[in-house]
Amino acid sequence: MGYKVVVAGATGNVGREMLNILAERQFPVDEITALASRKSLGTEVSFGDKTLTTKDLDTFDFTGWDIALFAVGSEATKKYAPKAAAAGCVVIDNSSLYRYDPEIPLIVPECNPQAIHDYKNKNIIANPNCSTAQMVVALKPLHDRAKVKRVVVSTYQSVSGAGKDGMDELWEQTKAVYNPTADVPAKKFQKEIAFNVIPQIDVFMEDGSTKEEWKMVVETKKIVDPAIKVTATCVRVPVFVGHSEAINIEFEEFLDEDEARDILRESPGIMVIDKREPGGYVTPKECVGDYATFISRIRQDSTIENGLNLWCVSDNLRKGAALNAVQIAELLGREVLKKG
Ligand SMILES: NC(=O)c1ccc[n+]([C@@H]2O[C@H](COP(=O)([O-])OP(=O)(O)OC[C@H]3O[C@@H](n4cnc5c(N)ncnc54)[C@H](OP(=O)(O)O)[C@@H]3O)[C@@H](O)[C@H]2O)c1
Repeated sequence: MGYKVVVAGATGNVGREMLNILAERQFPVDEITALASRKSLGTEVSFGDKTLTTKDLDTFDFTGWDIALFAVGSEATKKYAPKAAAAGCVVIDNSSLYRYDPEIPLIVPECNPQAIHDYKNKNIIANPNCSTAQMVVALKPLHDRAKVKRVVVSTYQSVSGAGKDGMDELWEQTKAVYNPTADVPAKKFQKEIAFNVIPQIDVFMEDGSTKEEWKMVVETKKIVDPAIKVTATCVRVPVFVGHSEAINIEFEEFLDEDEARDILRESPGIMVIDKREPGGYVTPKECVGDYATFISRIRQDSTIENGLNLWCVSDNLRKGAALNAVQIAELLGREVLKKG
């Protein structure tokens, strides 16, 4: 006996990947349904070799369904996730709505699987922000060995992190550069993204940081350790899929770069590609469609006592969203629901 699974936001970037990953990993599904907004009613989406016809989230009855993977944005989540949870269906949510609620677990299975049991507080589990997810996968095993004190991170985030409209905007603006018949003004992003980089993701906070940067700070504390200090600069780059991060880590204890490389090599969810030669590292183009968080350029930071630098790349639609959500569903199944 398997699970009755709902994917809400099935026509979106993350929702489509959720369906792909559930099928790829042969999640024990008895029945699956794809939901989106009314305007997508009847739209066909793929689930393995099957085709699902999208239904309207607004009129869907969650009674009798086991797990709902939500990727519909905060506003729709606020309206529909409590309905699903109240009907006894466990919600695994990709939006930022519930991530900072102390009663709701925020989980990256490689880092804090023990938090799964807190699902019962509200029948809701939160999935982290894409840039946090890949960073904490890299930080956790190093923290266990040498205790991370402070992290300085700069991100290079792809446009798919802003949904399908973000990808369309890069595509249309890029075409317009070569064939300037129509003006494609910035809509999803604050400035033109084609052939550009934009040092703003999400809105500004009072202290001058952006909400994306704040999310990395707060989520790292909740998932790994409240004592870790993080300072982030989040930048949107004209890449379709795959987020990259340059991470500088200060530890309490000395950690040699070779030992760090060995630790990372043996840690779950990580692939180390670190050859000190031209091209001996991973770029976002190469990580697309993969499950791993790739780590390259591991090296000592000689400007501080106990410091390391590294380069971290992952498919933001997978580890940063859909894969992590499916891993949470697997964990929930294994530890709590025990069907399948
Ligand atoms: N992309 C990433 O890297 C990433 C990473 C982590 C978290 N997330 C989060 O995941 C969520 C989805 O992101 P995305 O990139 O997949 O966005 P997207 O490509 O724009 O897709 C949004 C999905 O939500 C559905 N939706 C929106 N409003 C709805 C409503 N009122 N009722 C029903 N369905 C509604 C859309 O349906 P229609 O097609 O019918 O409009 C579509 O299926 C967001 O909360 C985002 O912050 C994204």
